[in-house]
Amino acid sequence: MTTTLYAQRRARVAAAIGRDGIAIIPTAAEHPRNRDSDFLYRHDSYFYYLSGFTEPNAWLVITGDGRSTLFCQPKDLEREIWDGFRLGPDAALATLGVDAAHAVGELDAQLPKLMENRDAVWYPFAIHSGLEQRVAGWLNQVRARVRYGALCPEQQRDLCGVRDEMRLIKDAHEQDVMRRAAAISARAHIRAMQLSARMLREGKDVREYHLDAELLHEFRLGGSQYPAYGSIVAAGANACVLHYRADAAPVRTGELVLIDAGCELDGYASDITRTFPANGQFTGPQRVLYDLVLASQEAAVAATKPGNRFNDPHDATVRVLAQGMLDVGLLDKNKVGTVDDVIDSRAYFKFYMHRTGHWLGMDVHDCGSYVEPVQVGEVSERRDPLSNELIKNRPSRVLQPGMVLTIEPGIYVRPGEGVPEQFHNIGIRIEDDAIVTPSGCELISRGVPVKRTRSRR
Ligand code: GLY
Ligand code: MN
Ligand code: MN
Repeated sequence: MTTTLYAQRRARVAAAIGRDGIAIIPTAAEHPRNRDSDFLYRHDSYFYYLSGFTEPNAWLVITGDGRSTLFCQPKDLEREIWDGFRLGPDAALATLGVDAAHAVGELDAQLPKLMENRDAVWYPFAIHSGLEQRVAGWLNQVRARVRYGALCPEQQRDLCGVRDEMRLIKDAHEQDVMRRAAAISARAHIRAMQLSARMLREGKDVREYHLDAELLHEFRLGGSQYPAYGSIVAAGANACVLHYRADAAPVRTGELVLIDAGCELDGYASDITRTFPANGQFTGPQRVLYDLVLASQEAAVAATKPGNRFNDPHDATVRVLAQGMLDVGLLDKNKVGTVDDVIDSRAYFKFYMHRTGHWLGMDVHDCGSYVEPVQVGEVSERRDPLSNELIKNRPSRVLQPGMVLTIEPGIYVRPGEGVPEQFHNIGIRIEDDAIVTPSGCELISRGVPVKRTRSRR
């Protein structure tokens, strides 16, 4: 089944690059950590999208006539004893459905031949260090043969745009993997919440890393290969550090814990944030802000539907948060004015300084343009009220079924002049993963709930 899927994707690339085009797609490089130890290897998402192949040292070449050629590690018993199984070029033909396969050592000899008589070379710009130089070297070899009648490609084109557009709409197979990834991550969040409450009940010294351990355990138990990004486990005031990592701070009764963690399953990311009281019970001020963030997320979910724009959920979130900040006294209406003033001046930015979502897919911040392609020319300018920078706006992407995005509003209250003390050091984010459907969106991460019932005032 999946061999056909990858072949279909390669056929779409072939059609996009034109009959005389050639596309060159390397997988990710291995990165040494120290001496003979490497960092954990992760394939290149674009390469995997077109091949389903996760071994390092591999290249895919697609030509406009629809043929695909793989270069991969050759079978080598000695290396396989140390590093593990290699598919090898012979088996790659049937297993991956490519038209030709060679040992990767053949690359420099084969590429000039494959590039000869083509009009354009397509490859991902500015992603793989040194690729531009290698392409230049191969082009030079073709050029050396022009006196024998060889034609040398005259154009170099960036392959990213073509592939980004393909990856932006997730097919049924991708949606299925993403649902499963989100389900595993949801279980991991529940497990971390439960451990926190249990250890505190038992009078134990709970640390952020204890909760991180629960996440990792459940990810692997569910078959996930690794986290999709560095997990954030932030106790108390640490939640106000947006890129905090799971560290060793104590998790205390009366404080909130913010966990932003998602596993990667079979090449696809999940991305979930939950904020919960360490011992299961909100204080009054925590509850007030939590309910506000939740209401803003509900508004964003309602705005996530086909025909709406990518920015609509963000705008819906901001309106609810801005009104709430006025209502609870985080912002003083005598100073900042009405909700519309708060939005226009971006006064809310002091407590909500990130966007409400991003594309999600093979990468946690997935590829795909946030601008509607047919409207790239419709530029309007505005001056940012906070930075005074001149911003060029283009109409944001129109949502379509099969797009997957996160919906992740938050509030982060650092102590400061005029900031009500009861809210100091509270950081809250609620993040779910949404597949756009024909009628709205499907939240695939709600295996972990967002609603709580008990409060302590
Ligand atoms: N975990 C990264 C993000 O939420 O965007
Ligand atoms: Mn996210
Ligand atoms: Mn996240």
